[in-house]
Amino acid sequence: MDIIERFIQNPELEKKEYEELLLASGEPEARKRLAEEAVRLRKLYYGDKVYARGLIEFTNICKNDCLYCGIRRSNRKADRYRLTKEEILSCCETGYGLGFRTFVLQGGEDPWFTDERMCEIVRSIRGKYPDCAVTLSIGERSYESYRRLREAGAERYLLRHETASEEHYQKLHPKEMSLAHRKQCLYELKELGYQVGAGFMVGAPGQTYRELAEDLLFLRELQPQMVGIGPFVPHHDTPFRDEPAGSVELTLRLLSIIRILLPKVLLPATTALGTMDPEGREKGFAAGANVVMPNLSPEKNRKKYELYDNKLCTGEEAAESCADLRRRVERADWHLSMERGDAAEKALEEMEQESKRQEDNL
Ligand code: 5AD
Repeated sequence: MDIIERFIQNPELEKKEYEELLLASGEPEARKRLAEEAVRLRKLYYGDKVYARGLIEFTNICKNDCLYCGIRRSNRKADRYRLTKEEILSCCETGYGLGFRTFVLQGGEDPWFTDERMCEIVRSIRGKYPDCAVTLSIGERSYESYRRLREAGAERYLLRHETASEEHYQKLHPKEMSLAHRKQCLYELKELGYQVGAGFMVGAPGQTYRELAEDLLFLRELQPQMVGIGPFVPHHDTPFRDEPAGSVELTLRLLSIIRILLPKVLLPATTALGTMDPEGREKGFAAGANVVMPNLSPEKNRKKYELYDNKLCTGEEAAESCADLRRRVERADWHLSMERGDAAEKALEEMEQESKRQEDNL
């Protein structure tokens, strides 16, 4: 049996075999087979739903200096901003009106947002919109900080591991950052009961199938509820300005592979994928993705959250154009869902509880 079928039958492979799988997956037939299996699994756990999340990029101030990122602290040209709590709440109000039931608060590692301030923001959102989930994506913090934020009502946390290879991590980050700490944060978040999202860029400088094989092994070990992947896109004011962008095609293959590896995972068709290919989103759904995150940030700030060149923030990327997005999603035969959209395990539990309640009422 070839490596593709072996992986489909039992996705627990050795590192060398994952490399072999990645190599073999480049063939058109193999790509098709992986996508078909990925879509089958996605349908099994989530039906035809594509979940929408409202993304609020609330600060582009960052104390880190990641070599790939346009909002790294050494980029003096970045026009910095920070939303007030009122501005954030007003984004939620707009989003709630548009039907969103998950708000993703994403930002650079901005020290102004202390635990007190962050908890206050989370508490206000949960207080005003108790039927909505709050997802945080605000980088590495202490266990105590994650604990307090969880207590304040945040239930999900996105923290891409960026690469699971120690050596590769060092090439992408300044020396004060470490993969060990990044991983520690992810494990702590899990321990605290967050639904956790990891992930990486596809085609980041220095990445080969060897690094990607390590990413797959790490995802298998961590068992995150969400995985965010998108192609690396160079930013003109970073040290990686002249590096080639990652490939859409490889990103799609990886979406399928990750869906097969973690069948219940929530897998966004990311902005970077949409930026690199006008049909990137649809291709992402056809490869196994089932989440989209339109932008709810105030219009005046959107362009400033420039992680990479030409980052989309208008059209279907904008939450106000939800109708366009819905049309596109439905044209591809999926259904855009505005529900909270928890990971399948949780959804199953809730479905069971609901049917039990109904039985009790009979
Ligand atoms: N290209 C693509 N993705 C990027 N990110 C940061 N910079 C870039 C870039 N140049 C991703 C990182 C980060 C997420 C918020 O955006 O993976 O975790």
